[in-house]
Formats: sequence, C-alpha cells, structure tokens
Amino acid sequence: MINNIKIFVALDYSDETSACRLINLLSPSDCGVKIGKELFTAAGPKIVEYAQKKGFEVFLDLKYHDIPNTVKKACQSAARLGVYMVNVHALGGSEMMIAAKEGLTQSKAKPLLIGVTLLTSHDQKNLHEMGVTKNLEDEIAHLATNVAKCGLDGVVCSANDIKFLKPSLPKNFHFVTPGIRPIDSSNDDQKRITTPEDALASGSTMLVIGRPITHSSNPYEALKAIRRTL
Ligand code: C5P
Repeated sequence: MINNIKIFVALDYSDETSACRLINLLSPSDCGVKIGKELFTAAGPKIVEYAQKKGFEVFLDLKYHDIPNTVKKACQSAARLGVYMVNVHALGGSEMMIAAKEGLTQSKAKPLLIGVTLLTSHDQKNLHEMGVTKNLEDEIAHLATNVAKCGLDGVVCSANDIKFLKPSLPKNFHFVTPGIRPIDSSNDDQKRITTPEDALASGSTMLVIGRPITHSSNPYEALKAIRRTL
C-alpha cells in the first residue's frame, strides 16, 4: 500500500519563472511545495498564490525569529495567505513561540506551526560560539521539548534525531525532516542524510526534498519513484 506521508518539494529558486516551471511539472496529489527565503524574497506572496491555485499545499519556510509581537504578526500574515504550514526558530525563545501560537489561534485560517530546533548546518563549535555549553543532542532535545511546551505542532529536525526526541514529545507531534536522499542520489551539501524509507521508519511525518527532485531530468518521475519506496 502506498503510504500517505506528506512530501514537500523545496522550491529553492531565485526567480518566479523557474519555480512556476517546476510547479507545472508536479502534481498536487503527490506533494506540497516548500517556499523559503530565497524564492519568497524574489517573488513575494504571488508565488504562494500561484502554487495554491494549482492545488498545492504550501509550507512557508521563513523561519521567523524576532521580538514576540513581530513574529505574532508575521504568523498572522502567513495565515492570511492560506498556507498549510509556517515555522519559527525555537532559539527565539518561549515568549516568541507562545506569541506565534497566539497569533494563529486568533487567525481565521490556522496553519500548522513548526519550530526549527538547530539547523543541520550547526555543529558543536557553532553552539560554543553562541555560548551554549550543552552537547548537540541535549540542546536539540531541550529546544524540541520547549517547542512542545509552547503548544506548537512539531519540529523540523534530522530524521536521525527522532529516536532520541520522540519519547519526550506529544504523541501527535510532527517531525518534518529535510536531508532526504534516495539510495542512488548525491548527498550534495547535506551531511546527515536519510533515505525516504528510513525517514518514514524513524517516525518522520513529513519529508522535505529538494535537489533529488528539482535537479532531476524528470522531476515528476523522480517524485513518483520516491513515493513507490514508501
Ligand atoms: O535539496 P535538498 O533536498 O537538500 O533541500 C532541502 C531543503 O530543506 C532546503 O530548502 C533547505 O534549506 C531545507 N532545510 C534543510 N535543513 C534544515 C532545515 C531546512 O536542508 N535543517
């Protein structure tokens, strides 16, 4: 049986035309799309509307991190765009995350609100620079627990982190996992990678996949092939 796990294809483009071209090669019955800082800064809300008009759910990956009131208002603006999911940095702290949640509670549309723990580009040295003395796993677990305490719906993390995170988090918590690589594809710049099937087995509830699909000569078939492994 084909598993119904959500896959968000990362539209990592600096222009609207390339993003629209990819959107038109995919089917909303196979995936949603992730719009991040690069594309949103270049193309603005109209690229969100374009994807939605084509039937795609949008994960607006802007990783808000600012004073609580600003993040609350930004989340409300995202909700007005009708996106499926939005995210904030857990490092922004409890007050900021609670304000974000409150902003969405007061909104008509209520996108899922996800906390980014530590970026996968952060290592122990970066933590030390930030003045954090905990080891990497303890800090990720600490931030994820705080995300749940603030009432958010899940975390963005590496699929490899789920085994130590899951026991202390709510049952219906979402684990949104990038760094996904089918067995025969290049790692690119990702360090901690997982195959789609291993990510699913680890407890991922949503997969974020970019280059294995967007750089393929046939993105539609590349996504279908990934789906067949799940
Ligand atoms: O091309 P690739 O599959 O590596 O794309 C992964 C996507 O997930 C990119 O848009 C990247 O910015 C995002 N991401 C990530 N690691 C995180 C958070 C987001 O790779 N920790």
